[in-house]
Amino acid sequence: MFKSKFESYVNLIEKTINEKFPESNSEYALVNQASRYSLLLGGKRIRPILMLEFAKLFGAADSDVLPFCVAIEMIHTYSLIHDDLPCMDNDDLRRGKPACHKKFGEDIALLAGDNLLTESFKIAADSSACAERKIKAISILAERAGFNGMIGGQVLDLWFEECTPNAEQITRMYMMKTGALLSASAEIGVVLGGGSEEDLQNATNYALNLGLAFQIIDDILDITGDEKLLGKPIGSDADNNKTTLVSILGLENAKALAQELTQKALECLSKFEGNTEFLIELTSSLLNRNY
Ligand code: IPE
Ligand code: IPE
Ligand code: MG
Ligand code: MG
Ligand code: MG
Repeated sequence: MFKSKFESYVNLIEKTINEKFPESNSEYALVNQASRYSLLLGGKRIRPILMLEFAKLFGAADSDVLPFCVAIEMIHTYSLIHDDLPCMDNDDLRRGKPACHKKFGEDIALLAGDNLLTESFKIAADSSACAERKIKAISILAERAGFNGMIGGQVLDLWFEECTPNAEQITRMYMMKTGALLSASAEIGVVLGGGSEEDLQNATNYALNLGLAFQIIDDILDITGDEKLLGKPIGSDADNNKTTLVSILGLENAKALAQELTQKALECLSKFEGNTEFLIELTSSLLNRNY
């Protein structure tokens, strides 16, 4: 049941990506090809799925939400393309295929990231939601992707290669680089469905706990994972001199912390009145993922 619902969400999202961000035959189509290459390579689609589920809790129409689902996946994909560049994490493999810059060169990969970010806002603006909700959702998208969100987190991540950050600093960086886009996903679902401020706050708390657990598991998989399953290089963090919660706490304690954070996320879910069965399974499954 969970698996088939998850798969039908993935199909819906990929079909909508193709509709809203189609191939181009213009003379400068290369950047569109590079963008679509990375966007359609695969990926778990966790962010748009979260968004759809939160929106469902509050009864939003799919046509209101799907443009934002495409937008968040585009922004996430842009963050991955740039994250893999030689000047960032310098990783050659992404979603089981050559990273965007390995396939298209650094110049086009840089522009593909820029393209995905910029076009995402145009697609979001096409949502059929009422103007008030749509503007609030677009503002959340920008805020969470930007300076005080993912971008700020990526800057801290780079700086922390040069010093010895403590667990508190790393935690803040995780909340920004990874938590922010997950929190945008849940929050936009709530906003498009017309949830209350309290619901919004609860969604933020849920996603930040999930985001921390998610990044800890990502860091664990960077050490213990199987490159073939994971679709990205193992040992990237050590190669880049990253301090992680795993390098500070050790594998066992880090896993225990991820469990604790997942529990906290589940407690947030229990405060919603609607059917959270799928979200509960999703949240738990992310703790035990191997990719
Ligand atoms: C990878 O995110 C980057 C992190 C924030 C840890 P995902 O693990 O969601 O990557 P995809 O989308 O499934 O490839
Ligand atoms: C990713 O953190 C955060 C982003 C905002 C892209 P990582 O650098 O650990 O993600 P992966 O392991 O390359 O997917
Ligand atoms: Mg990184
Ligand atoms: Mg990386
Ligand atoms: Mg990683």
